[in-house]
Amino acid sequence: MDKKNRLILALDVTDRENALRIANEVSDYVDSIKVGYPLVLGEGLGIVKELVEIAPVIADFKVADIPNTDRLICEHVFNAGAAGIITHGFTGRDSLDSCVKVANDFGTDVYVVTEMSHPGGVEFFRPVAEDIAKMAVEAGASGVVAPATRPERVKDIRKIIGEELSIISPGVGAQGGSAADVIRAGADWVIVGRSIYNSDSPAEAAKKICDEMNC
Ligand code: XMP
Repeated sequence: MDKKNRLILALDVTDRENALRIANEVSDYVDSIKVGYPLVLGEGLGIVKELVEIAPVIADFKVADIPNTDRLICEHVFNAGAAGIITHGFTGRDSLDSCVKVANDFGTDVYVVTEMSHPGGVEFFRPVAEDIAKMAVEAGASGVVAPATRPERVKDIRKIIGEELSIISPGVGAQGGSAADVIRAGADWVIVGRSIYNSDSPAEAAKKICDEMNC
């Protein structure tokens, strides 16, 4: 992913018309569009094929299954044109290896969830987040997902993964995190959904976040 705007749109609207309208409106300000269950369950995986015409797509399916099922999921997603996928790591190294292998075959990216951004994200993830980050490095993932709601954790995770892997960071805006703070803490990209797609002017909202990060 080209690091131009440092902003990834989380496109969690559930219908095609809104999805394409918003994606087109913000395309100058985002480096990628993250698509997850809300939109794909609403419109089918074909929406990815349409969105990749506007910007590279990261599929946020938080893949968390046995290696064979993970492989099948990744193959579907990358065949649809996605440039990256978000997976869990708690399922273990063999499951993650399976995703990384498919991604390497397609020349695409795998991002591994470390500690989640919502309040409950500390309950089970906190004790294992750093081990998952280490595993992401060892498995050859492209990057990790770390919480913009806790920039100090982004700093901790950056120390563990070094400079080679990217950090993509959700939790800005609606969940209370600050784009500038988490970029200063070591994130490469922020992921923003509601603050942009619920805005009267998604383009202005996206521009404002870019300006905060000086991009
Ligand atoms: P909002 O509307 O809160 O959307 O700006 C955030 C987007 O990011 C997803 N999300 C996460 N994904 N790890 C992830 O892999 C996380 O910790 C996390 N927190 C939020 C969320 O589903 C939405 O698409």
